[in-house]
Amino acid sequence: MTIAQHLESSLSATLTQILGETIVASVSPATDLRFGDYQCNAAMALAKSRKMNPRALAEQIIAALDIADLATTEIAGPGFINFRIKAEAYATRMQAAAIDERLSVDRIATPQTIVIDFSAPNVAKPMHIGHIRSTILGESLSRIARFLGHNVITDNHIGDWGTQFGMVTWAWKNVLDEAALLADPLEELLRLYRYASDSSKTDEAIREACRSELVKLQQGDAENFAIWTRCLELSKKGLNAIYNRLDVSFDHWLGESAYNDALAPLVEELLEKNLARESEGAVCIFSDGSVSDPTKDPFLIRRDADWTDFPMMIRKSDGAFNYATTDIATLQFRQREWQADAVWYVVDHRQSSHFQQLFAVAARLGMAEVDLRHIAFGTILGTDGKPLKTRAGDLPQLADVLDDAVSAARLTVNERSRLDTDEERANLAELIGISAVKFTELAHHRLSDYVFDLNKMVALEGDTAPYLFYSFVRSRSIFRKLEETFQPGSTIELKEEAEIHLARLLSRFAEVLPSVLDDCRPNLLTTYLLETARAFHSYFEACPVLKAEGITRYSRLTLCDVTARTLQQGLQLLGIPVPQRM
Ligand code: ARG
Repeated sequence: MTIAQHLESSLSATLTQILGETIVASVSPATDLRFGDYQCNAAMALAKSRKMNPRALAEQIIAALDIADLATTEIAGPGFINFRIKAEAYATRMQAAAIDERLSVDRIATPQTIVIDFSAPNVAKPMHIGHIRSTILGESLSRIARFLGHNVITDNHIGDWGTQFGMVTWAWKNVLDEAALLADPLEELLRLYRYASDSSKTDEAIREACRSELVKLQQGDAENFAIWTRCLELSKKGLNAIYNRLDVSFDHWLGESAYNDALAPLVEELLEKNLARESEGAVCIFSDGSVSDPTKDPFLIRRDADWTDFPMMIRKSDGAFNYATTDIATLQFRQREWQADAVWYVVDHRQSSHFQQLFAVAARLGMAEVDLRHIAFGTILGTDGKPLKTRAGDLPQLADVLDDAVSAARLTVNERSRLDTDEERANLAELIGISAVKFTELAHHRLSDYVFDLNKMVALEGDTAPYLFYSFVRSRSIFRKLEETFQPGSTIELKEEAEIHLARLLSRFAEVLPSVLDDCRPNLLTTYLLETARAFHSYFEACPVLKAEGITRYSRLTLCDVTARTLQQGLQLLGIPVPQRM
């Protein structure tokens, strides 16, 4: 149980007793440490609806509360209750964390089966910034949800069946460079796609040829199917190379093509159930009028002063199926085969109306119980404040972004590192470069746009991954200078303000992690880790470790140890491994 949970359960029990009905009280971390560590405003809310005096109720609560070992209490203002956690209570928590491999982070009481749909690039098309954000965010959320005890299923729903294959197939037959394909499959497939797409813009005959290659593929033509299969294999190989570099993995790769056979019967089912109807030759899903506020109806759109239909198309007039059709089939599969309690889609915010419609359709199909979330995110900007582009004006490819970050990191490493060999320095630069890209992504509120500034990201000072690495290495290095063997778990004592503050933050790890999943915001964890690292440096300045003796020395070593492990565990949950030396 966390400290906050301990306070909450005591408060709830006390209030239930005083008021004679079941009350669930909550506390929040105090914004100003001068008033204590946690705060509860339940007395005010409860007194108001019962026409009681809030201060009197607060007094009644603290008189009956049984938390003398944990905290001292104080009433402030009209009836806030402030809790100051005792140094001994923090010491006890640190002792427990020191010998617990989970650092006293509990598993969630009611685990769910959560399907996380992330990364999902499109085969043979540029993997754009949206996919970078999705990959990094999705991996971190999966790790955190898993660590907290959920049954997580990750699925890379790649776009492996779409109009781009008409173009790629045509270019494959006409301008393929086999050697280039073997050397760098993603690059060559992208070149084929771009070649065909550019040529068909100006040449009607090529446009027609691409279209007929697509029709042949869809009708099962053996040659085109073989080309498609090979494209897919090579793409997966190329993508896996990137995922390995990023230490990202998936339980499944069920791309769009996996649902091809389910689409025709799905449309029939929706027509039969009157959930969809024909409209100008296409099949669409419309508003069912169940949402009274038109601004909240995803099937309506405002045109001038009126609300008009904004249907979800599930079969085009030429008989082809849509992105939306595949997503409905995919969701049905996830619910039926995996018994998903929740599905999280980590996808660009520009697809938000698609997901609102999808979720509404899911409810109409009887899946209202499934917790469906669109984990949306914004754009990455260049230092000019415009969406990030390469110098040539193209969408930056993930591999290039990583290479650039590693080059920037190499400069910092060469300047600052104390490592001896070139090989060690090269490895550290690779680690810092990639970690900096990940950390910067995760450190921003996912919905906000942020500026991709390589020099800032790889700097040792600032709110960066290398700063956390440095903090980790510093907290570990003390153990190399030790003559005795350190065995964590015995009684410790905290006296100085700096050590109490560090312990306060370290104790909060168990509170911060679950809060990340409330709104899928890993930036709560990055903020926490930076704050903890800063508290560690202040502590390290204020509280000598190796010069101390007895229980003070032992207590301070324990704090160093718990700090190192918290930073390491926290970073691991962000998908970032730590260096042992820098
Ligand atoms: N391939 C899609 C894109 O690049 C993303 C797919 C996201 N997942 C989903 N189930 N729709 O835009």
